[in-house]
Amino acid sequence: MEFFESLKKRRSVYNINKEVKVTEEEILNVIETAVLYTPSAYNSESQRAVVLLNDKHDLLWEIVKDEIKKVVKPEDYKVSETKINSFKNGHGTVLFFDDILTTNELMTKFPLYKDNFYRWSIEQNGMLQGNVWVGLETLGLGASLQHYNELIEKRVKEEFGIDENWQLIAQLPFGNLAEVPAEKTKKALIERLKVIK
Ligand SMILES: Cc1cc2nc3c(=O)[nH]c(=O)nc-3n(C[C@H](O)[C@H](O)[C@H](O)COP(=O)(O)O)c2cc1C
Repeated sequence: MEFFESLKKRRSVYNINKEVKVTEEEILNVIETAVLYTPSAYNSESQRAVVLLNDKHDLLWEIVKDEIKKVVKPEDYKVSETKINSFKNGHGTVLFFDDILTTNELMTKFPLYKDNFYRWSIEQNGMLQGNVWVGLETLGLGASLQHYNELIEKRVKEEFGIDENWQLIAQLPFGNLAEVPAEKTKKALIERLKVIK
C-alpha cells in the first residue's frame, strides 16, 4: 500500500531545498533498492545510476549553467539560470545512465532482437527512474526529472570520472519538498484504460 500511496503522491516538484529530514543512509537505501530490483530485458541490468551529494550536486548544476550559457542568447540566460538554480537548491541529484557496452553486446548476441535492445534499454531506465522517483517520495522528498544530457555529458564524465560507456539519460534533482505543486487534472481513465473480458 505504501508504494501506491507514494505513487499517487509523486509529483514534479521544483520548489526543493537542502533541509531534508531523512538521513543519507535512508536516501541511499531507496536508490540502492531501486537499482537492484528494477527489472531489465534479458536481465541485462544495463541501468546505471550516480548519486551526487553536497558540493558534487552543486557542481553538476554549475556545469549545466556553464553549458547553457554557451548556447542560449544572453537575454534568455536569466530565465535558464533561475530554473537551474531551483535544481541546485536541492539536496542531491541522481544521474541515470545506460551501459552501452552491455546493450551493444546483447545486440550482437541476439541479432533477431537487435532493434529492440536500444528501446528496451531506455524503457528499463525509465522504470528505474520511476522507482527512484516514487522511492524518494516514500521518504517525503520532492524531485523532478530533467534532460540536459547531450549538453553536459562530456563535462559530467570528466568531472565525476564516469565510465566512457555509460550514456547519460536523465537527471533527477531531489530535496526537501518546500511546496506541494498544484494538482493536475488527469484524462478520464476511460480514454486510457480498457478492461476487456
Ligand atoms: C519521460 C519523461 C520525461 C520528462 N522530462 C521532463 C523534463 O525534461 N523536464 C521537466 O521539468 N519535467 C519532465 N518530465 C515531467 C513531466 O512533465 C511530468 O511528470 C508531468 O507533467 C506530470 O506531472 P507530475 O510529475 O507533477 O505528476 C518528464 C516526465 C517523463 C515521464
